[in-house]
Amino acid sequence: MGDGEKSLPSLEATILVKGAAEAEARVAADTLEGSCLKHFQVVRLLGRGGMGAVYYGNDTSLERPVAIKILAPELAHDPEVVARFEREARAQARLRHPNVAQIYFIGEDRGVHFFVMEHLEGPGLDSLLARPEPLPWAQALEYTIAAARGLRAASAQGFVHRDVKPSNLMLDREAGIKILDFGLVKSMHGDSQLTRDGAIIGSPLYMSPEQGRGGTVDLRSDIYSLGCALYHMLCGRPPFTGPSPVGVITMHVTDKAAPVRVVNPNVPEVLARIAERMMAKEPADRFANYDDLLAALEGARADRRELSGFRTRGIALAIDAVLLSVVGYFVGLWVLAAAFAYFVLFHRLLGQTPGKWLLGIRVENAAEGRISWKAALIRFLVFAWGPLAWTILAVVVYSLHREQHVSFRLASLTLSQLALPAVYVALATVILVAYLAGFLLVAFHPRRLALHDILARTEVRFKARPPAEQVVEAVKATTLTRRPR
Ligand SMILES: Nc1ncnc2c1ncn2[C@@H]1O[C@H](COP(=O)(O)OP(=O)(O)O)[C@@H](O)[C@H]1O
Ligand SMILES: [Mg+2]
Repeated sequence: MGDGEKSLPSLEATILVKGAAEAEARVAADTLEGSCLKHFQVVRLLGRGGMGAVYYGNDTSLERPVAIKILAPELAHDPEVVARFEREARAQARLRHPNVAQIYFIGEDRGVHFFVMEHLEGPGLDSLLARPEPLPWAQALEYTIAAARGLRAASAQGFVHRDVKPSNLMLDREAGIKILDFGLVKSMHGDSQLTRDGAIIGSPLYMSPEQGRGGTVDLRSDIYSLGCALYHMLCGRPPFTGPSPVGVITMHVTDKAAPVRVVNPNVPEVLARIAERMMAKEPADRFANYDDLLAALEGARADRRELSGFRTRGIALAIDAVLLSVVGYFVGLWVLAAAFAYFVLFHRLLGQTPGKWLLGIRVENAAEGRISWKAALIRFLVFAWGPLAWTILAVVVYSLHREQHVSFRLASLTLSQLALPAVYVALATVILVAYLAGFLLVAFHPRRLALHDILARTEVRFKARPPAEQVVEAVKATTLTRRPR
């Protein structure tokens, strides 16, 4: 799909400004860095979209970092567009919600129209999706829930976003997701989905069929676009791709995307159905409002199996240790190789060692699939780092001192002769404590992760799913009810 891949960045962009105008915008923008717009210092370019450029900046009066979005010059020439842009920004500034990026200021300086918003560290969901692998489905679910909450608050105040896409969804440590660019597309062009020169507004990859047809849009159009973003997160690619924007828009209107679970079988049935319902061609076949959507999404969380805690994992490990010591009794030091094979092979091939099997827990990746060879290897090496470090320490001590005569009569040793052994004992103790802390972390970590889980990106979960009622409820609620045409 070489062609499709190459065209992704341009398809992701919101279509608003034509090529020549973009070049004009670039020239104007390049002279801005280092200058001031009102009391905002423009520091460096963050990115460029269909409406203009976004800069990292500094609010010199409140001394806080901000993001400054500058309206492309050819849009700023139209007083009607500018008035609408300002009206929309003012309305949006009244919207306060943890999942919506806050607007701080809107204004004009020497002919440059701009607005200022909170600067988000991000990254944008688009850069997370730049790699062709799916995100862990539970993570995709949480991002979608966060975005839907922001959209619900906005729609309660009458906002339709019209350009929901990964680059307008910024990752945020506290809120999960913050939504950018509310209603800006509308402010540029009023209710019409078409610009004056006939270009369609929005990002083809995530555009609803009604938007593509130039029809009227409501919140269900945003639900469609969010569904496409969710599909992209779950499948590692957008529902439709192709070399031309118009081709992709047509596919949204007429084609059926490959089912989520055909592309990624790790996604639970319930969540796949939710994504597919969000992406129904007919608005009436989607969720009617955000309350319904959020109820379904939150229901899909119940599909997660419970994480195993410290005690269960500890007992499983003790069982494995007993088994390995029996092996060690017969094979001596070869037990180290045996342990390596035991943990790596069992975890990679079955997801569980005999100890874990007895306790009904499994090692998985975040998507609840089997872990890779690499993860199994990293997991073992981190798991074994303590014993490895001791071995290395012992070898070093031995090779440094093997010529020396060692006396075990403590009374006959001088203090200076004791100093070095004390250092070795301290080192060994530090290793022991740090090593144990790596395990003990399970007891305190919110996601019940040990150090070896964090570094190998694995989790340990119970095999059985929680009571099925909730799951069945969620499936019922999301079953497609097709309207007769
Ligand atoms: N508030 C913000 N904080 C940090 N970065 C931002 C902010 N707003 C926009 N950006 C960055 O600027 C880029 C361009 O934004 P934009 O003009 O909206 O285009 P698009 O959304 O089509 O990518 C975005 O991809 C994002 O990385
Ligand atoms: Mg944007």
